[in-house]
Amino acid sequence: MKLRFIFALTLGLVAFTAQANGSADAGKQKSQTCQACHGADGNGVGITMYPVIAGQHADYLRKALHDYKSGVRSNPIMAGFAGALSEQDIADLAAYFASQQGPLTELNANPVK
Ligand code: HEC
Repeated sequence: MKLRFIFALTLGLVAFTAQANGSADAGKQKSQTCQACHGADGNGVGITMYPVIAGQHADYLRKALHDYKSGVRSNPIMAGFAGALSEQDIADLAAYFASQQGPLTELNANPVK
């Protein structure tokens, strides 16, 4: 019982560490394929159907890519691109796009008056 708990805890830590290890530099290298639609820095290419991802939270980007990959979030275009990504690719790409300046803000930065 105790051993199982320690095992689960270790797995959790490994998963957490793997997630925390995204490298923005590596993500930049890997972002070539993303640029046609999301722009070089994630600020889009002026076509509204391609969302701006610059400055988005890294954990949101990671979840979106996982969801496209698993099919939880269904989109034929992104399924193809996300499906080809490894865990490390996802972490690196999320770190890169999250580190870019973009127009996205928190809701509480624009309170409704
Ligand atoms: C051919 C165009 C195209 C390419 C290339 C592309 N995407 Fe996308 N991406 C889209 C479209 C269209 C959507 C919106 C899909 C939807 O409605 O869910 C999207 C959505 C996303 C989202 C979710 C954004 C949000 O606000 O929820 C992320 C994250 C993302 N793409 C990352 C990437 C990454 C990383 C790459 C490169 C590996 C990439 N995309 C390559 C077209 C593209």
